[in-house]
Amino acid sequence: MAQRALTGVKPTGEPHLGNWLGAIQPALDLARSYDTFYFIADYHALTSVHAGDDMRRYVRSITATYLAFGLDPEKSVFYRQSDVPEIFELSWILSCFTPKGFMNRAHAYKDAVSKNLAAGKDADDGIGMGLFGYPVLMAADILMFNADVVPVGADQKQHVEFARDIAERFNGNYGEAVFHLPEPRISSTVKTVIGLDGRKMSKSYDNTIPLFLEEKALLKRINQIVTNSQSPEEPKDPDQSHVFSLHQLLLDANAEKEARKQYQAGGMGWGMAKKMFFESLNEKLRGPRSEYNRLIADPNHLDRILEKGKERARSIATPFLDRIRLLTGIR
Ligand code: ADP
Ligand code: TRP
Repeated sequence: MAQRALTGVKPTGEPHLGNWLGAIQPALDLARSYDTFYFIADYHALTSVHAGDDMRRYVRSITATYLAFGLDPEKSVFYRQSDVPEIFELSWILSCFTPKGFMNRAHAYKDAVSKNLAAGKDADDGIGMGLFGYPVLMAADILMFNADVVPVGADQKQHVEFARDIAERFNGNYGEAVFHLPEPRISSTVKTVIGLDGRKMSKSYDNTIPLFLEEKALLKRINQIVTNSQSPEEPKDPDQSHVFSLHQLLLDANAEKEARKQYQAGGMGWGMAKKMFFESLNEKLRGPRSEYNRLIADPNHLDRILEKGKERARSIATPFLDRIRLLTGIR
Protein backbone atom coordinates (compact mmCIF):
# COMPACT_ATOMS: atom_id res chain seq x y z
CA MET A 1 0.00 0.00 0.00
CA ALA A 2 1.28 3.46 -0.86
CA GLN A 3 2.12 5.79 1.99
CA ARG A 4 -0.28 8.59 2.76
CA ALA A 5 0.53 12.26 2.35
CA LEU A 6 -1.88 14.79 3.82
CA THR A 7 -1.92 18.55 3.81
CA GLY A 8 -4.32 21.31 4.73
CA VAL A 9 -4.69 24.82 3.43
CA LYS A 10 -6.30 27.67 5.31
CA PRO A 11 -8.89 29.67 3.38
CA THR A 12 -7.72 33.09 4.50
CA GLY A 13 -7.59 35.06 1.22
CA GLU A 14 -7.33 34.99 -2.54
CA PRO A 15 -4.44 32.77 -3.64
CA HIS A 16 -1.26 34.37 -5.01
CA LEU A 17 1.86 33.37 -6.92
CA GLY A 18 3.76 32.57 -3.69
CA ASN A 19 1.01 30.16 -2.59
CA TRP A 20 1.06 28.42 -5.96
CA LEU A 21 4.80 27.91 -6.28
CA GLY A 22 5.46 27.50 -2.57
CA ALA A 23 2.58 25.28 -1.50
CA ILE A 24 -0.03 24.30 -4.07
CA GLN A 25 2.18 22.86 -6.81
CA PRO A 26 4.57 20.97 -4.48
CA ALA A 27 1.56 19.47 -2.69
CA LEU A 28 -0.12 18.42 -5.93
CA ASP A 29 3.10 16.83 -7.20
CA LEU A 30 2.92 14.35 -4.32
CA ALA A 31 -0.12 12.68 -5.90
CA ARG A 32 2.31 10.90 -8.24
CA SER A 33 3.87 8.88 -5.43
CA TYR A 34 1.49 8.88 -2.47
CA ASP A 35 -2.13 8.34 -1.58
CA THR A 36 -2.98 11.98 -1.12
CA PHE A 37 -5.38 13.79 1.19
CA TYR A 38 -5.97 17.52 0.67
CA PHE A 39 -8.35 19.55 2.75
CA ILE A 40 -9.59 23.06 3.29
CA ALA A 41 -8.81 23.93 6.91
CA ASP A 42 -11.79 26.22 7.47
CA TYR A 43 -11.93 25.77 11.25
CA HIS A 44 -8.26 26.72 11.41
CA ALA A 45 -9.02 29.82 9.34
CA LEU A 46 -11.74 30.71 11.84
CA THR A 47 -8.99 31.77 14.24
CA SER A 48 -8.54 34.82 12.00
CA VAL A 49 -11.38 35.10 9.43
CA HIS A 50 -14.35 36.48 11.35
CA ALA A 51 -16.73 37.49 8.55
CA GLY A 52 -19.04 34.75 7.24
CA ASP A 53 -19.11 36.01 3.66
CA ASP A 54 -15.33 36.16 3.50
CA MET A 55 -15.06 32.61 4.80
CA ARG A 56 -17.53 31.30 2.21
CA ARG A 57 -15.76 33.15 -0.60
CA TYR A 58 -12.29 31.99 0.40
CA VAL A 59 -13.38 28.36 0.77
CA ARG A 60 -14.78 28.36 -2.78
CA SER A 61 -11.79 30.20 -4.13
CA ILE A 62 -9.27 27.77 -2.61
CA THR A 63 -11.35 24.79 -3.72
CA ALA A 64 -11.48 26.08 -7.30
CA THR A 65 -7.76 26.91 -7.23
CA TYR A 66 -6.65 23.39 -6.33
CA LEU A 67 -8.94 21.91 -8.97
CA ALA A 68 -7.78 24.44 -11.60
CA PHE A 69 -4.16 23.44 -11.01
CA GLY A 70 -5.00 19.81 -11.60
CA LEU A 71 -6.11 18.21 -8.35
CA ASP A 72 -8.02 15.09 -9.36
CA PRO A 73 -10.79 14.53 -6.80
CA GLU A 74 -11.21 10.95 -7.99
CA LYS A 75 -7.59 10.16 -7.27
CA SER A 76 -7.05 12.21 -4.11
CA VAL A 77 -9.36 12.61 -1.14
CA PHE A 78 -10.31 16.30 -1.22
CA TYR A 79 -12.57 17.62 1.53
CA ARG A 80 -13.45 20.46 3.83
CA GLN A 81 -12.31 20.05 7.43
CA SER A 82 -15.64 21.18 8.88
CA ASP A 83 -17.42 18.43 6.91
CA VAL A 84 -15.70 15.74 8.97
CA PRO A 85 -16.97 16.09 12.56
CA GLU A 86 -14.89 13.07 13.60
CA ILE A 87 -11.84 15.35 13.43
CA PHE A 88 -13.25 17.57 16.17
CA GLU A 89 -14.08 14.69 18.45
CA LEU A 90 -10.58 13.37 17.95
CA SER A 91 -9.22 16.83 18.66
CA TRP A 92 -10.74 16.75 22.15
CA ILE A 93 -9.50 13.23 22.78
CA LEU A 94 -5.98 14.24 21.76
CA SER A 95 -6.10 17.37 23.90
CA CYS A 96 -6.38 15.04 26.89
CA PHE A 97 -2.99 13.61 25.90
CA THR A 98 -1.32 16.92 25.09
CA PRO A 99 0.83 18.65 27.70
CA LYS A 100 -0.23 22.29 27.97
CA GLY A 101 3.48 23.11 27.87
CA PHE A 102 3.54 22.11 24.18
CA MET A 103 1.06 24.84 23.41
CA ASN A 104 3.02 27.38 25.47
CA ARG A 105 6.03 26.55 23.29
CA ALA A 106 4.20 26.73 19.95
CA HIS A 107 5.84 29.34 17.67
CA ALA A 108 2.65 31.08 16.58
CA TYR A 109 1.50 31.53 20.17
CA LYS A 110 4.95 32.59 21.38
CA ASP A 111 5.23 35.17 18.59
CA ALA A 112 1.86 36.63 19.50
CA VAL A 113 2.94 36.85 23.16
CA SER A 114 6.26 38.54 22.35
CA LYS A 115 4.49 41.08 20.13
CA ASN A 116 2.14 41.89 22.98
CA LEU A 117 4.95 42.25 25.49
CA ALA A 118 6.98 44.41 23.11
CA ALA A 119 3.95 46.69 22.74
CA GLY A 120 3.63 46.91 26.53
CA LYS A 121 0.36 44.94 26.54
CA ASP A 122 -0.83 42.00 28.60
CA ALA A 123 0.91 38.80 27.37
CA ASP A 124 -2.34 37.20 26.17
CA ASP A 125 -3.99 40.32 24.80
CA GLY A 126 -6.23 39.44 21.82
CA ILE A 127 -5.10 35.79 21.80
CA GLY A 128 -8.07 33.42 21.46
CA MET A 129 -8.23 29.84 22.66
CA GLY A 130 -8.48 28.89 18.97
CA LEU A 131 -5.00 30.19 18.33
CA PHE A 132 -3.66 28.63 21.51
CA GLY A 133 -5.13 25.18 20.81
CA TYR A 134 -4.51 25.32 17.04
CA PRO A 135 -1.79 22.64 17.08
CA VAL A 136 -4.11 20.06 18.73
CA LEU A 137 -6.69 20.46 15.97
CA MET A 138 -3.88 20.14 13.44
CA ALA A 139 -2.72 16.93 15.15
CA ALA A 140 -6.28 15.60 14.82
CA ASP A 141 -6.31 16.51 11.08
CA ILE A 142 -3.16 14.49 10.60
CA LEU A 143 -3.76 11.52 12.90
CA MET A 144 -7.39 11.02 11.83
CA PHE A 145 -6.15 9.78 8.46
CA ASN A 146 -2.95 8.16 9.65
CA ALA A 147 -0.82 10.35 7.41
CA ASP A 148 2.78 9.21 7.04
CA VAL A 149 4.04 12.35 5.36
CA VAL A 150 2.88 15.92 5.89
CA PRO A 151 4.16 18.48 3.40
CA VAL A 152 4.27 21.90 5.06
CA GLY A 153 6.18 25.16 5.08
CA ALA A 154 9.08 25.41 7.54
CA ASP A 155 6.89 27.41 9.95
CA GLN A 156 4.57 24.40 10.36
CA LYS A 157 7.25 21.80 11.13
CA GLN A 158 6.84 22.16 14.88
CA HIS A 159 3.12 21.44 14.61
CA VAL A 160 3.75 18.16 12.82
CA GLU A 161 6.30 17.25 15.49
CA PHE A 162 3.66 17.88 18.15
CA ALA A 163 1.28 15.58 16.27
CA ARG A 164 3.93 12.89 16.27
CA ASP A 165 4.62 13.32 19.94
CA ILE A 166 0.92 13.26 20.85
CA ALA A 167 0.48 10.10 18.76
CA GLU A 168 3.33 8.42 20.65
CA ARG A 169 1.81 9.34 23.99
CA PHE A 170 -1.59 7.99 22.98
CA ASN A 171 -0.17 4.78 21.49
CA GLY A 172 2.06 4.31 24.53
CA ASN A 173 -0.79 4.79 26.98
CA TYR A 174 -3.06 2.20 25.35
CA GLY A 175 -0.23 -0.12 24.35
CA GLU A 176 -1.34 -0.21 20.73
CA ALA A 177 0.09 1.41 17.60
CA VAL A 178 -3.23 3.04 16.65
CA PHE A 179 -1.73 6.14 15.09
CA HIS A 180 1.01 6.24 12.48
CA LEU A 181 3.81 8.61 13.41
CA PRO A 182 3.74 11.44 10.84
CA GLU A 183 6.86 13.01 9.34
CA PRO A 184 6.97 16.65 8.26
CA ARG A 185 8.16 17.09 4.67
CA ILE A 186 9.74 20.45 3.95
CA SER A 187 10.53 20.76 0.27
CA SER A 188 14.12 21.95 -0.05
CA THR A 189 13.66 23.11 -3.65
CA VAL A 190 10.92 25.56 -2.77
CA LYS A 191 12.18 29.09 -2.43
CA THR A 192 10.44 31.98 -0.82
CA VAL A 193 8.74 33.92 -3.58
CA ILE A 194 9.26 37.66 -3.22
CA GLY A 195 6.49 40.19 -3.67
CA LEU A 196 6.24 43.43 -5.67
CA ASP A 197 8.38 45.27 -3.12
CA GLY A 198 11.06 42.58 -2.67
CA ARG A 199 9.81 41.37 0.71
CA LYS A 200 8.27 37.88 1.03
CA MET A 201 5.10 37.79 -1.05
CA SER A 202 2.27 37.78 1.47
CA LYS A 203 -1.32 38.95 1.82
CA SER A 204 -0.25 40.69 5.00
CA TYR A 205 2.12 42.97 3.01
CA ASP A 206 -0.28 43.73 0.17
CA ASN A 207 2.51 42.95 -2.29
CA THR A 208 1.07 39.88 -3.99
CA ILE A 209 0.46 38.84 -7.55
CA PRO A 210 -3.00 37.22 -7.36
CA LEU A 211 -3.23 34.16 -9.58
CA PHE A 212 -6.47 34.75 -11.41
CA LEU A 213 -6.50 38.39 -12.45
CA GLU A 214 -7.61 39.06 -16.01
CA GLU A 215 -4.69 39.72 -18.39
CA LYS A 216 -4.87 43.51 -18.25
CA ALA A 217 -5.04 43.62 -14.48
CA LEU A 218 -2.21 41.09 -14.26
CA LEU A 219 0.05 43.25 -16.42
CA LYS A 220 -0.89 46.29 -14.38
CA ARG A 221 0.04 44.47 -11.19
CA ILE A 222 3.35 43.30 -12.67
CA ASN A 223 4.11 46.86 -13.70
CA GLN A 224 4.03 47.74 -9.99
CA ILE A 225 7.11 45.62 -9.24
CA VAL A 226 9.63 47.97 -7.68
CA THR A 227 12.71 48.64 -9.85
CA ASN A 228 15.69 50.99 -9.66
CA SER A 229 16.19 54.06 -11.84
CA GLN A 230 18.56 52.53 -14.39
CA SER A 231 17.91 53.66 -17.96
CA PRO A 232 16.95 51.13 -20.66
CA GLU A 233 20.45 51.26 -22.19
CA GLU A 234 22.32 50.35 -19.03
CA PRO A 235 23.36 46.71 -18.50
CA LYS A 236 21.55 45.27 -15.50
CA ASP A 237 22.48 42.76 -12.84
CA PRO A 238 19.69 40.16 -12.94
CA ASP A 239 20.43 39.08 -9.38
CA GLN A 240 19.67 42.57 -8.13
CA SER A 241 16.30 42.74 -9.84
CA HIS A 242 12.92 41.85 -8.31
CA VAL A 243 11.54 41.35 -11.82
CA PHE A 244 14.16 38.76 -12.70
CA SER A 245 13.94 37.08 -9.35
CA LEU A 246 10.24 36.42 -10.02
CA HIS A 247 10.66 35.63 -13.72
CA GLN A 248 13.35 33.02 -13.17
CA LEU A 249 10.95 30.93 -11.09
CA LEU A 250 9.10 30.17 -14.31
CA LEU A 251 12.13 29.49 -16.54
CA ASP A 252 14.05 26.31 -17.29
CA ALA A 253 17.86 26.42 -17.16
CA ASN A 254 18.35 27.45 -20.81
CA ALA A 255 15.69 30.11 -20.84
CA GLU A 256 17.11 31.50 -17.61
CA LYS A 257 20.58 31.75 -19.18
CA GLU A 258 19.15 33.61 -22.18
CA ALA A 259 17.22 36.02 -19.98
CA ARG A 260 20.35 36.72 -17.91
CA LYS A 261 22.23 37.61 -21.09
CA GLN A 262 19.51 40.02 -22.14
CA TYR A 263 19.68 41.80 -18.79
CA GLN A 264 23.47 42.00 -18.88
CA ALA A 265 23.72 43.17 -22.51
CA GLY A 266 21.94 46.46 -21.87
CA GLY A 267 19.25 47.86 -24.11
CA MET A 268 16.41 46.34 -22.14
CA GLY A 269 14.35 48.70 -20.01
CA TRP A 270 12.29 47.70 -17.00
CA GLY A 271 9.07 48.00 -18.98
CA MET A 272 10.29 45.35 -21.35
CA ALA A 273 11.60 43.12 -18.55
CA LYS A 274 8.19 43.26 -16.91
CA LYS A 275 6.47 42.52 -20.21
CA MET A 276 8.66 39.41 -20.62
CA PHE A 277 7.76 38.22 -17.15
CA PHE A 278 4.10 38.94 -17.80
CA GLU A 279 4.18 36.87 -20.98
CA SER A 280 5.76 33.84 -19.29
CA LEU A 281 3.36 34.01 -16.36
CA ASN A 282 0.30 34.65 -18.47
CA GLU A 283 1.16 31.68 -20.63
CA LYS A 284 1.33 29.41 -17.57
CA LEU A 285 -1.83 30.80 -16.01
CA ARG A 286 -4.03 30.90 -19.10
CA GLY A 287 -5.32 27.31 -18.74
CA PRO A 288 -5.77 27.33 -14.94
CA ARG A 289 -7.40 30.80 -15.12
CA SER A 290 -10.08 29.72 -17.54
CA GLU A 291 -10.69 26.55 -15.54
CA TYR A 292 -10.87 28.60 -12.32
CA ASN A 293 -13.38 31.01 -13.86
CA ARG A 294 -15.48 28.12 -15.07
CA LEU A 295 -15.47 26.48 -11.62
CA ILE A 296 -16.10 29.60 -9.60
CA ALA A 297 -19.13 30.41 -11.76
CA ASP A 298 -20.71 27.10 -10.74
CA PRO A 299 -20.79 26.92 -6.92
CA ASN A 300 -23.14 23.94 -6.97
CA HIS A 301 -20.56 21.93 -8.84
CA LEU A 302 -17.87 22.89 -6.29
CA ASP A 303 -20.23 21.92 -3.48
CA ARG A 304 -20.84 18.54 -5.10
CA ILE A 305 -17.12 17.87 -5.31
CA LEU A 306 -16.71 18.71 -1.62
CA GLU A 307 -19.73 16.58 -0.78
CA LYS A 308 -18.12 13.57 -2.45
CA GLY A 309 -14.85 14.28 -0.68
CA LYS A 310 -16.72 14.42 2.60
CA GLU A 311 -18.21 10.98 2.01
CA ARG A 312 -14.84 9.48 1.20
CA ALA A 313 -13.14 11.14 4.16
CA ARG A 314 -15.87 10.10 6.59
CA SER A 315 -15.86 6.52 5.33
CA ILE A 316 -12.29 6.36 6.64
CA ALA A 317 -12.75 8.55 9.72
CA THR A 318 -15.92 6.96 11.15
CA PRO A 319 -14.66 3.40 11.68
CA PHE A 320 -11.30 4.70 12.86
CA LEU A 321 -12.88 6.94 15.46
CA ASP A 322 -15.04 4.02 16.62
CA ARG A 323 -11.87 2.10 17.29
CA ILE A 324 -10.47 4.99 19.30
CA ARG A 325 -13.69 5.36 21.31
CA LEU A 326 -13.54 1.69 22.14
CA LEU A 327 -9.92 1.89 23.16
CA THR A 328 -10.53 4.88 25.43
CA GLY A 329 -13.56 3.25 27.03
CA ILE A 330 -15.90 5.97 25.77
CA ARG A 331 -17.76 3.05 24.16
P1 ADP B 1 0.22 34.63 3.20
O1 ADP B 1 1.59 34.92 3.74
O2 ADP B 1 -0.04 35.34 1.93
O3 ADP B 1 -0.85 34.86 4.25
P2 ADP B 1 -0.25 31.86 3.77
O4 ADP B 1 0.40 31.99 5.10
O5 ADP B 1 -1.73 31.69 3.70
O6 ADP B 1 0.19 33.09 2.84
O7 ADP B 1 0.46 30.64 3.02
C1 ADP B 1 -0.17 29.50 2.51
C2 ADP B 1 0.91 28.58 1.99
O8 ADP B 1 1.65 29.21 0.94
C3 ADP B 1 1.93 28.18 3.05
O9 ADP B 1 2.24 26.82 2.87
C4 ADP B 1 3.14 29.02 2.74
O10 ADP B 1 4.34 28.35 3.09
C5 ADP B 1 3.04 29.23 1.23
N1 ADP B 1 3.56 30.57 0.90
C6 ADP B 1 2.97 31.75 1.22
N2 ADP B 1 3.69 32.80 0.76
C7 ADP B 1 4.76 32.26 0.15
C8 ADP B 1 5.89 32.83 -0.53
N3 ADP B 1 6.04 34.14 -0.66
N4 ADP B 1 6.82 31.99 -1.05
C9 ADP B 1 6.67 30.63 -0.93
N5 ADP B 1 5.64 30.05 -0.30
C10 ADP B 1 4.69 30.84 0.24
N1 TRP C 1 -1.58 25.04 9.85
C1 TRP C 1 -1.41 24.92 8.43
C2 TRP C 1 -1.00 26.30 7.86
O1 TRP C 1 -1.16 27.30 8.54
C3 TRP C 1 -2.69 24.44 7.76
C4 TRP C 1 -3.07 23.10 8.28
C5 TRP C 1 -4.10 22.80 9.13
C6 TRP C 1 -2.39 21.87 8.01
N2 TRP C 1 -4.11 21.47 9.38
C7 TRP C 1 -3.08 20.87 8.73
C8 TRP C 1 -1.28 21.54 7.22
C9 TRP C 1 -2.68 19.52 8.68
C10 TRP C 1 -0.88 20.19 7.20
C11 TRP C 1 -1.57 19.21 7.92
O2 TRP C 1 -0.55 26.39 6.75
